[in-house]
Amino acid sequence: MSEKFEKLFTPYKFRSFEVSNRVVMPPMAIYIPGSKGYVEQRLIDYYEARAKGGPGLIIVNATYVSPVSGASHPNQTALYNDSFIDGLKKLVDVIHSHGVKTIIQLYHSGRQRFGMIAGGETLSPSGIPDPVRKDPTRAITIPEIQNLIKEFAAAALRAKKAGFEGIELHCGHGYLLAGFLSPYQNTRTDEYGGDTWKRTRIVREIIAACREAIGDEMLIGVRLNGSDYVNGGNTLEDAKEIAKILADAGAELIHVTAGMAPSGHYTFLPAEMKAGCNVYLAEGIKEAVGPDVPVIAVGAIEDPVQAEEILRETNVDFTAIGRPMFADPDIVKKAKEGRLKEIRPCLRCSKSAGVWPEDMRCTVNPAVGIEKSFEENLKKMGPSKKVLVIGAGPGGLEAARIAAIKGHEVTVMDKKDKIGGKMLLVKLRPGKDRLIDRWIAYYENEIDRLKIKVELNKEVDVATVEAFQPDITIVATGGKPLVPKAIKGADNKKVVAADDVLLGNVSVGKNIAIIGGSSLGVETADFILQDDTKKVTVFEMQRDVLLDISHDAELALLEDFLKKDIKFLTSTDVLKVEEKNGKFDLQIRRFSKPDVITGFDTVVLACGVTPENKLGLALQEKMDNVFLVGDSATPGDFRAAVHTAAQTCMNM
Ligand SMILES: Cc1cc2nc3c(=O)[nH]c(=O)nc-3n(C[C@H](O)[C@H](O)[C@H](O)COP(=O)(O)OP(=O)(O)OC[C@H]3O[C@@H](n4cnc5c(N)ncnc54)[C@H](O)[C@@H]3O)c2cc1C
Ligand SMILES: Cc1cc2nc3c(=O)[nH]c(=O)nc-3n(C[C@H](O)[C@H](O)[C@H](O)COP(=O)(O)O)c2cc1C
Ligand code: SF4
Repeated sequence: MSEKFEKLFTPYKFRSFEVSNRVVMPPMAIYIPGSKGYVEQRLIDYYEARAKGGPGLIIVNATYVSPVSGASHPNQTALYNDSFIDGLKKLVDVIHSHGVKTIIQLYHSGRQRFGMIAGGETLSPSGIPDPVRKDPTRAITIPEIQNLIKEFAAAALRAKKAGFEGIELHCGHGYLLAGFLSPYQNTRTDEYGGDTWKRTRIVREIIAACREAIGDEMLIGVRLNGSDYVNGGNTLEDAKEIAKILADAGAELIHVTAGMAPSGHYTFLPAEMKAGCNVYLAEGIKEAVGPDVPVIAVGAIEDPVQAEEILRETNVDFTAIGRPMFADPDIVKKAKEGRLKEIRPCLRCSKSAGVWPEDMRCTVNPAVGIEKSFEENLKKMGPSKKVLVIGAGPGGLEAARIAAIKGHEVTVMDKKDKIGGKMLLVKLRPGKDRLIDRWIAYYENEIDRLKIKVELNKEVDVATVEAFQPDITIVATGGKPLVPKAIKGADNKKVVAADDVLLGNVSVGKNIAIIGGSSLGVETADFILQDDTKKVTVFEMQRDVLLDISHDAELALLEDFLKKDIKFLTSTDVLKVEEKNGKFDLQIRRFSKPDVITGFDTVVLACGVTPENKLGLALQEKMDNVFLVGDSATPGDFRAAVHTAAQTCMNM
């Protein structure tokens, strides 16, 4: 093991067990369709892949303790009766078999739930609906609180029977217990509301009840917001006081997170948020609870190098690394073996598994959720074939990687002078450059490691392929900007594409119209408005902008942005772009009423892409074994490109 990771690989001894290193896999909820709260083999395979990767501790995802109303979504793992123990025991055994210790997060969703789909009644500290989820809610009564305390204790005992080393009470992110702790949700005037002491009462009582149920051996931890990041919520100073009270009440491990539904970008930390931006909260809490209570820092800790730095330079005891373990389950093992360049980086793209009703998934790692079959397929090496991949965007690169792992002789050709495809454009947008650079560096290393041949500045046509004589051709030529036929004048040569704006191929005037309010349009606006002399109007036909990204990514993007000179016109169809005296007028229909907006210097199209499939279709007519992947097959996103490419190569 390299000395570089001296702190990271220092074991830690809890009262009754020891962990081998300071990396924790934090809880990340997985919803396996149809699982009804039970542990299925796919969940075990997912955790086994991460356990093999060697974190010291795995905290199994939020698991609800009260039937129905405790869950925020269907198919979360549950522990409200004994029937759930066997599945969890199998899971614990598998995690243990790789030398990793595990605790389980117990929770009640409170008001942050989708009651319509999860069913049951939505309970909350004070009956105030969540401003984001908006589910109608009722204040939980004192007899119900007493019952809930018993439910937590019963679930803790079941966790003991399943073999967990401990439990973590989820007191963060705005769910029920966090709601009690925070004056933002808790306006009660009885013994469970009021000052900090009273607001912590429910958690203190749950800790006491759990301890009584499970005895002395097991660990009881809490996950706590170091800041709610909402007006009227807990600040770090409040959180320090709460942490001290809970530690005195018996919390033996404190895991410091942040944010609630209206400030979810501090919880899920999309790419726009700074790496490690919540670590200072854990430092503050550690200062408050003192040396005897270990503290975990979490949030956009991107790799073992950053984790080691945090452990060296701050007072925290553990670093939790979440999504990067989705993206690469072997992150800790690779650090230990000095294979840092082989770590596939998480892009913090906010498209992880866990958003109901979607199955588990990861943009950069197509194996998530199908770990076992993926691994087995990679081992199936038939006769080695000569594979040509056309295009070095995400689709082409992933196709090449998988084909090479499967033992084929792979050549990638791209007409550009760099690999990356459209990701080179994504990189130009504020906040994304560093992560995209890391993603490109990962593939550069894979290309070397797997001996993939790459020919750049090579525009491929049918003759090139005929001369090359591949056994298999993967066409990953991407897409080109869509010029909507329905908008008259959109094909005017002076109307520019968002891609060209980002690339600096065109300059924009002062007053700019962007047609299309998905992330492409809005992020292009963000890019333009780095120059604060510019003014942008975004036209979107749907009822809102940014419907293609998560709420958290939207919050992060819009946080500073709305102070700039930008206007969004939603529910607005652009009918015509008309050039008049060097300016542009836009004829629109807004909420069914016609209107004209005049005087734009530049009109930018951000209306999506159309497949670049001419070459692929021509090749399919001439030869066998030609497969189109990514945007050249169906315009989509990064994830679709990676996943269609992977799927195609798995079937090869
Ligand atoms: C500005 C912008 C922002 C985006 N932001 C996001 C985002 O935030 N999240 C997200 O998930 N998706 C985003 N996307 C979409 C995402 O980038 C694409 O879906 C993805 O890159 C498609 O991958 P691909 O491999 O299919 O094609 P591409 O990435 O387009 O790569 C195609 C490659 O093929 C090469 N090529 C084409 N024709 C030939 C030829 N004849 N010979 C040789 N080489 C050829 C090209 O040079 C290029 O390198 C964005 C797209 C754009 C344009
Ligand atoms: C898909 C997903 C599911 C999550 N589920 C939970 C959960 O069940 N309980 C919880 O406390 N936090 C949950 N989180 C938050 C993570 O534990 C973690 O705090 C967050 O992802 C930031 O850390 P990271 O940047 O290392 O991913 C989830 C995050 C993701 C991405
Ligand atoms: S989906 Fe995106 S944010 Fe989630 S782990 Fe994968 S790369 Fe990271």
